[in-house]
Amino acid sequence: MNDASARRVLVTRRTFDEVLAGLRLRFDVDDNQGDQPLTPDELAARAAPCEGIVAAVADAVTPALLDACPRLRVVANCAVGTNNVDIPACTARGVMVTNTPGVLDDTTADHAWALMFAAARRVVSADRWLRDGHWRAWGFMDWHGVDVHHATLGIVGMGRIGRAIARRAAGFDMRVIYHNRKPLPDDQALACGAGYAGLDELLSSADFVVVSVPYGPATHHLIGARELALLKPSAVFVNIARGGVVDDAALVEVLQEGRIAAAGIDVFENEPKLHPGFPALDNAVLTPHIASASRATRLGMAELAARNLVAALEGARPPSLVNPEVLSRAG
Ligand code: GLV
Repeated sequence: MNDASARRVLVTRRTFDEVLAGLRLRFDVDDNQGDQPLTPDELAARAAPCEGIVAAVADAVTPALLDACPRLRVVANCAVGTNNVDIPACTARGVMVTNTPGVLDDTTADHAWALMFAAARRVVSADRWLRDGHWRAWGFMDWHGVDVHHATLGIVGMGRIGRAIARRAAGFDMRVIYHNRKPLPDDQALACGAGYAGLDELLSSADFVVVSVPYGPATHHLIGARELALLKPSAVFVNIARGGVVDDAALVEVLQEGRIAAAGIDVFENEPKLHPGFPALDNAVLTPHIASASRATRLGMAELAARNLVAALEGARPPSLVNPEVLSRAG
């Protein structure tokens, strides 16, 4: 759209052509199909004339950015997590914040299971060893891993994704325990066959521990050296939540010393930089923050972010508004 009066929006990272085309019917869209991550200064300069931003997990929406964008009315985060957005600062300026819950639960839960299996059964290091030409003869006593079936699965954080992880455990005859700020209502706990446990009790009794909590001040280093020391020596630890929920330096140390069996990690403190100890670990499977990355789910996320943006700019309530108090403030 070249109409000079059209409202301008910024889509900060490469997205699906069909989603961009839909936005272009309504708005003057500044895209980034070249997909170079924007520096904070570039983001501020490109967002400055915009009424809406479709943001990604690595875009920091700070008070300084908001001050540079006086026309901004909505930040449509293309993620379920919103820790990259200063929500109180948005609310104070009357800016709506939206996210993409629901559409990614099953895909993210699938990835948690992929990491559990890959770490427990040493899939990645066995693959690497094989490709490196080490296989001379089949060995009965080689490559022993940890059984998933009939093990106890402990889930820290029992939101939609945690519950989707739990539901999958029935197929492997697992016992499921969970820890959450608040115990689930009975019907929800029953639906995913999970029993409540205190955090320390969960960490010391589960065979598989999966972390699935949002990141924020209350969950910063929720899993640190003390908590990791509670894990069983045979435990498999999985983080599909956010970097910062786990103290990476403490986790690297536990893995280097073989104090747990293995880990599967999708999210890191300071990503895309890794703690320097991670790459050399043979007992860790590492993925680059891809738990929601199936094509169908990423399309669903992009479409939901676009629906949120359109609703916010066309006077409707966005389907997944994170700071509804902004509406009463405006009214
Ligand atoms: C991805 O990490 C998300 O929060 O959706």
